[in-house]
Amino acid sequence: MSRIAYVNGRYVRHGDAAVHVEDRGYQFADGVYEVIAVRRGVLIDAGLHLDRLDRSLRELDIAAPMSRAALGHVIGQAIRRNRVADGIVYLQVTRGVARRDHPFPAGVAPALVVTARRGAPRAAAMADGVGVITIEDIRWKRCDIKSISLLPNVLGKQQAVTQGAYEAWLVADDGTVTEGTSTNAWIVTPDDELVTRQANRAILNGVTRRAVLALAEDAGLRFVERPFTVAEALAAREAFLTSTTSYVIPVTRIDGRAVGDGTPGPLTRRLQAAYRGHVAEEAGAPATAD
Ligand code: PDD
Repeated sequence: MSRIAYVNGRYVRHGDAAVHVEDRGYQFADGVYEVIAVRRGVLIDAGLHLDRLDRSLRELDIAAPMSRAALGHVIGQAIRRNRVADGIVYLQVTRGVARRDHPFPAGVAPALVVTARRGAPRAAAMADGVGVITIEDIRWKRCDIKSISLLPNVLGKQQAVTQGAYEAWLVADDGTVTEGTSTNAWIVTPDDELVTRQANRAILNGVTRRAVLALAEDAGLRFVERPFTVAEALAAREAFLTSTTSYVIPVTRIDGRAVGDGTPGPLTRRLQAAYRGHVAEEAGAPATAD
Protein backbone atom coordinates (compact mmCIF):
# COMPACT_ATOMS: atom_id res chain seq x y z
CA MET A 1 0.00 0.00 0.00
CA SER A 2 1.45 3.39 -0.93
CA ARG A 3 1.38 6.21 1.56
CA ILE A 4 -0.76 9.26 0.87
CA ALA A 5 -0.08 12.86 1.94
CA TYR A 6 -2.39 15.87 1.94
CA VAL A 7 -0.69 18.88 0.32
CA ASN A 8 -2.57 22.13 -0.20
CA GLY A 9 -5.94 20.71 -1.16
CA ARG A 10 -4.85 17.44 -2.77
CA TYR A 11 -4.19 13.90 -1.62
CA VAL A 12 -1.06 12.75 -3.39
CA ARG A 13 1.29 9.78 -3.26
CA HIS A 14 3.74 10.36 -0.44
CA GLY A 15 6.68 9.96 -2.81
CA ASP A 16 5.31 12.75 -5.01
CA ALA A 17 4.28 15.07 -2.16
CA ALA A 18 6.11 18.38 -2.57
CA VAL A 19 5.79 22.06 -1.78
CA HIS A 20 6.95 25.01 -3.85
CA VAL A 21 10.57 26.16 -3.49
CA GLU A 22 9.27 29.57 -2.42
CA ASP A 23 7.07 28.20 0.33
CA ARG A 24 7.98 30.41 3.28
CA GLY A 25 8.40 27.33 5.42
CA TYR A 26 11.21 26.23 3.13
CA GLN A 27 12.74 29.71 2.79
CA PHE A 28 12.32 31.13 6.30
CA ALA A 29 10.99 28.33 8.57
CA ASP A 30 7.94 30.64 8.66
CA GLY A 31 5.44 28.10 9.92
CA VAL A 32 4.21 25.91 12.73
CA TYR A 33 3.43 22.23 13.27
CA GLU A 34 1.80 19.64 15.48
CA VAL A 35 2.41 15.94 16.07
CA ILE A 36 -0.63 14.02 17.31
CA ALA A 37 -0.59 10.39 18.43
CA VAL A 38 -3.06 7.95 16.90
CA ARG A 39 -4.15 4.92 18.90
CA ARG A 40 -6.66 2.42 17.50
CA GLY A 41 -7.34 4.94 14.77
CA VAL A 42 -8.29 7.62 17.31
CA LEU A 43 -6.44 10.92 17.79
CA ILE A 44 -5.16 11.36 21.34
CA ASP A 45 -5.91 14.73 22.96
CA ALA A 46 -6.81 16.15 19.54
CA GLY A 47 -8.56 19.19 21.02
CA LEU A 48 -5.48 20.28 22.98
CA HIS A 49 -3.22 19.83 19.95
CA LEU A 50 -5.53 21.80 17.66
CA ASP A 51 -5.94 24.53 20.31
CA ARG A 52 -2.15 24.79 20.48
CA LEU A 53 -1.95 24.92 16.68
CA ASP A 54 -4.43 27.82 16.68
CA ARG A 55 -2.40 29.57 19.34
CA SER A 56 0.90 29.13 17.46
CA LEU A 57 -0.73 30.49 14.29
CA ARG A 58 -2.21 33.47 16.15
CA GLU A 59 1.12 34.33 17.78
CA LEU A 60 2.74 34.47 14.32
CA ASP A 61 -0.19 36.18 12.62
CA ILE A 62 -0.68 33.30 10.18
CA ALA A 63 -4.30 32.67 9.15
CA ALA A 64 -5.87 29.29 9.88
CA PRO A 65 -5.71 27.31 6.60
CA MET A 66 -9.29 26.03 7.08
CA SER A 67 -11.96 25.60 9.74
CA ARG A 68 -11.37 23.12 12.55
CA ALA A 69 -14.14 20.90 11.19
CA ALA A 70 -12.50 20.84 7.75
CA LEU A 71 -9.10 20.17 9.29
CA GLY A 72 -10.60 17.34 11.30
CA HIS A 73 -11.91 15.87 8.05
CA VAL A 74 -8.50 16.07 6.36
CA ILE A 75 -6.80 14.48 9.38
CA GLY A 76 -9.41 11.69 9.37
CA GLN A 77 -8.75 11.10 5.68
CA ALA A 78 -5.01 10.98 6.27
CA ILE A 79 -5.48 8.35 8.98
CA ARG A 80 -7.85 6.25 6.87
CA ARG A 81 -6.04 6.52 3.55
CA ASN A 82 -2.81 5.42 5.25
CA ARG A 83 -4.59 2.77 7.33
CA VAL A 84 -3.00 4.03 10.51
CA ALA A 85 -4.24 2.25 13.62
CA ASP A 86 -1.31 3.16 15.87
CA GLY A 87 1.02 5.93 14.80
CA ILE A 88 1.14 9.68 14.38
CA VAL A 89 -0.34 12.50 12.34
CA TYR A 90 1.92 15.40 11.38
CA LEU A 91 0.42 18.79 10.50
CA GLN A 92 2.37 21.72 9.15
CA VAL A 93 1.06 25.18 8.32
CA THR A 94 3.28 27.81 6.73
CA ARG A 95 2.59 31.41 5.76
CA GLY A 96 2.34 30.26 2.15
CA VAL A 97 4.15 30.70 -1.15
CA ALA A 98 5.47 34.09 -2.19
CA ARG A 99 8.52 35.68 -3.83
CA ARG A 100 11.33 35.59 -1.27
CA ASP A 101 11.12 38.78 0.76
CA HIS A 102 11.16 39.01 4.55
CA PRO A 103 7.94 40.97 5.31
CA PHE A 104 4.64 39.11 5.34
CA PRO A 105 3.31 38.80 1.77
CA ALA A 106 -0.12 40.28 1.07
CA GLY A 107 -3.01 38.17 -0.14
CA VAL A 108 -1.25 34.83 0.22
CA ALA A 109 -3.09 31.78 1.57
CA PRO A 110 -1.36 29.68 4.23
CA ALA A 111 -0.06 26.29 3.09
CA LEU A 112 -1.12 23.06 4.79
CA VAL A 113 0.52 19.64 4.76
CA VAL A 114 -0.88 16.64 6.64
CA THR A 115 0.84 13.26 6.79
CA ALA A 116 0.12 10.14 8.81
CA ARG A 117 2.37 7.21 9.54
CA ARG A 118 2.26 3.97 11.46
CA GLY A 119 4.50 3.26 14.42
CA ALA A 120 4.43 2.26 18.06
CA PRO A 121 5.19 4.88 20.72
CA ARG A 122 8.86 4.94 21.68
CA ALA A 123 7.80 4.45 25.29
CA ALA A 124 7.45 0.71 24.74
CA ALA A 125 11.09 0.23 23.78
CA MET A 126 12.44 2.74 26.29
CA ALA A 127 10.31 1.80 29.29
CA ASP A 128 13.36 0.74 31.30
CA GLY A 129 15.00 4.11 31.09
CA VAL A 130 17.22 6.25 28.91
CA GLY A 131 20.16 8.59 29.32
CA VAL A 132 20.12 12.32 28.70
CA ILE A 133 22.95 14.79 28.31
CA THR A 134 22.80 18.46 29.28
CA ILE A 135 23.75 21.19 26.80
CA GLU A 136 23.33 24.93 26.48
CA ASP A 137 19.87 26.14 25.42
CA ILE A 138 20.72 28.31 22.40
CA ARG A 139 17.12 28.74 21.17
CA TRP A 140 15.09 31.93 20.71
CA LYS A 141 12.85 33.49 23.38
CA ARG A 142 9.51 32.17 22.08
CA CYS A 143 9.81 28.44 22.64
CA ASP A 144 6.09 28.38 23.53
CA ILE A 145 5.35 28.62 19.79
CA LYS A 146 5.57 25.25 18.04
CA SER A 147 7.63 26.67 15.21
CA ILE A 148 9.15 24.51 12.45
CA SER A 149 12.41 26.38 13.06
CA LEU A 150 14.11 23.51 14.87
CA LEU A 151 17.82 23.85 14.10
CA PRO A 152 19.00 24.11 17.75
CA ASN A 153 16.75 21.15 18.58
CA VAL A 154 18.16 19.09 15.70
CA LEU A 155 21.75 19.93 16.68
CA GLY A 156 21.04 19.10 20.32
CA LYS A 157 19.38 15.79 19.51
CA GLN A 158 22.26 14.81 17.24
CA GLN A 159 24.73 15.59 20.02
CA ALA A 160 22.71 13.30 22.30
CA VAL A 161 22.68 10.51 19.73
CA THR A 162 26.41 10.89 19.09
CA GLN A 163 27.02 10.51 22.81
CA GLY A 164 24.76 7.47 23.07
CA ALA A 165 21.94 9.31 24.85
CA TYR A 166 18.23 9.51 23.99
CA GLU A 167 17.74 13.21 24.60
CA ALA A 168 19.54 16.45 25.40
CA TRP A 169 18.19 18.58 28.23
CA LEU A 170 18.62 22.25 27.41
CA VAL A 171 20.12 24.47 30.09
CA ALA A 172 19.38 28.20 30.33
CA ASP A 173 22.00 30.80 31.28
CA ASP A 174 20.90 30.62 34.93
CA GLY A 175 21.71 26.89 35.11
CA THR A 176 18.09 25.69 35.03
CA VAL A 177 16.82 23.02 32.66
CA THR A 178 14.20 24.37 30.27
CA GLU A 179 13.15 21.15 28.47
CA GLY A 180 14.46 18.49 26.09
CA THR A 181 14.98 19.06 22.36
CA SER A 182 11.60 17.41 21.65
CA THR A 183 10.31 16.48 25.12
CA ASN A 184 9.45 18.09 28.47
CA ALA A 185 11.69 17.39 31.48
CA TRP A 186 10.66 16.23 34.97
CA ILE A 187 12.30 15.26 38.24
CA VAL A 188 11.18 13.85 41.58
CA THR A 189 12.99 15.54 44.49
CA PRO A 190 14.44 13.65 47.48
CA ASP A 191 11.28 14.56 49.42
CA ASP A 192 9.06 13.07 46.71
CA GLU A 193 7.85 16.23 45.06
CA LEU A 194 7.20 16.07 41.33
CA VAL A 195 8.77 19.04 39.52
CA THR A 196 8.47 20.32 35.95
CA ARG A 197 9.14 23.78 34.66
CA GLN A 198 6.18 26.17 34.51
CA ALA A 199 4.88 26.79 30.99
CA ASN A 200 5.99 30.22 29.86
CA ARG A 201 7.90 31.42 26.82
CA ALA A 202 10.95 29.30 27.73
CA ILE A 203 9.30 25.96 26.91
CA LEU A 204 6.69 24.31 24.77
CA ASN A 205 3.63 23.58 26.88
CA GLY A 206 3.50 19.89 26.00
CA VAL A 207 0.12 18.25 25.63
CA THR A 208 1.61 15.17 27.33
CA ARG A 209 2.99 17.44 30.06
CA ARG A 210 -0.50 18.82 30.68
CA ALA A 211 -2.04 15.34 30.71
CA VAL A 212 0.57 14.06 33.19
CA LEU A 213 0.05 17.06 35.46
CA ALA A 214 -3.70 16.38 35.43
CA LEU A 215 -3.06 12.69 36.22
CA ALA A 216 -0.72 13.66 39.08
CA GLU A 217 -3.40 15.94 40.46
CA ASP A 218 -6.07 13.24 40.17
CA ALA A 219 -3.77 10.82 42.00
CA GLY A 220 -3.24 13.35 44.79
CA LEU A 221 0.53 13.54 44.14
CA ARG A 222 2.52 16.54 45.35
CA PHE A 223 3.78 18.53 42.39
CA VAL A 224 5.10 21.99 41.62
CA GLU A 225 5.70 23.81 38.33
CA ARG A 226 9.05 25.57 38.70
CA PRO A 227 12.51 25.57 37.14
CA PHE A 228 15.09 23.08 38.45
CA THR A 229 18.87 23.15 38.02
CA VAL A 230 21.13 20.45 36.59
CA ALA A 231 22.58 19.98 40.09
CA GLU A 232 19.07 19.39 41.42
CA ALA A 233 18.36 16.90 38.65
CA LEU A 234 21.59 15.03 39.46
CA ALA A 235 20.51 14.85 43.12
CA ALA A 236 16.92 13.86 42.22
CA ARG A 237 15.37 10.59 43.27
CA GLU A 238 13.77 10.08 39.85
CA ALA A 239 13.61 11.80 36.48
CA PHE A 240 11.60 11.29 33.33
CA LEU A 241 10.58 12.94 30.07
CA THR A 242 7.29 13.28 28.22
CA SER A 243 6.07 13.86 24.69
CA THR A 244 3.43 12.75 22.20
CA THR A 245 5.75 10.15 20.69
CA SER A 246 7.62 9.23 23.88
CA TYR A 247 4.68 9.10 26.33
CA VAL A 248 6.45 8.88 29.73
CA ILE A 249 10.05 7.61 29.55
CA PRO A 250 12.19 7.20 32.68
CA VAL A 251 15.49 9.07 32.66
CA THR A 252 18.00 6.91 34.51
CA ARG A 253 21.26 8.69 33.60
CA ILE A 254 22.10 12.38 33.30
CA ASP A 255 25.50 13.17 31.76
CA GLY A 256 26.48 9.54 32.43
CA ARG A 257 25.61 9.69 36.15
CA ALA A 258 22.88 7.51 37.62
CA VAL A 259 19.64 9.15 38.73
CA GLY A 260 18.68 7.64 42.10
CA ASP A 261 19.66 3.98 41.97
CA GLY A 262 19.83 4.08 38.16
CA THR A 263 16.49 2.34 37.60
CA PRO A 264 13.03 3.81 36.93
CA GLY A 265 11.50 5.05 40.18
CA PRO A 266 8.07 4.23 41.62
CA LEU A 267 6.48 7.60 40.88
CA THR A 268 7.69 7.44 37.28
CA ARG A 269 6.28 3.92 36.95
CA ARG A 270 2.99 5.09 38.36
CA LEU A 271 2.73 8.02 35.96
CA GLN A 272 3.81 5.81 33.03
CA ALA A 273 0.91 3.48 33.80
CA ALA A 274 -1.50 6.36 34.40
CA TYR A 275 -0.57 7.93 31.08
CA ARG A 276 -1.02 4.62 29.24
CA GLY A 277 -4.42 4.44 30.89
CA HIS A 278 -5.22 7.96 29.70
CA VAL A 279 -4.28 7.06 26.11
CA ALA A 280 -6.33 3.87 26.27
CA GLU A 281 -9.31 5.80 27.60
CA GLU A 282 -8.99 8.41 24.85
CA ALA A 283 -8.82 5.58 22.31
CA GLY A 284 -11.80 3.84 23.88
CA ALA A 285 -9.75 0.74 24.66
CA PRO A 286 -9.14 -1.28 27.82
CA ALA A 287 -5.87 -0.19 29.50
CA THR A 288 -3.09 -2.64 28.58
CA ALA A 289 0.68 -2.50 28.43
CA ASP A 290 2.10 -1.29 25.11
N1 PDD B 1 7.85 17.34 20.06
N2 PDD B 1 9.20 20.31 23.93
C1 PDD B 1 9.55 20.38 22.64
C2 PDD B 1 10.64 21.33 22.25
C3 PDD B 1 8.88 19.60 21.68
O1 PDD B 1 9.22 19.68 20.39
C4 PDD B 1 7.85 18.71 22.10
C5 PDD B 1 7.10 17.88 21.11
C6 PDD B 1 7.54 18.66 23.47
C7 PDD B 1 6.44 17.77 24.00
O2 PDD B 1 5.17 18.23 23.58
P1 PDD B 1 3.94 17.23 23.38
O3 PDD B 1 3.77 16.52 24.67
O4 PDD B 1 2.80 18.12 23.05
O5 PDD B 1 4.31 16.29 22.26
C8 PDD B 1 8.21 19.49 24.35
C9 PDD B 1 7.18 16.66 18.99
C10 PDD B 1 6.60 15.34 19.41
C11 PDD B 1 8.10 16.56 17.80
O6 PDD B 1 8.74 17.57 17.50
O7 PDD B 1 8.19 15.50 17.18
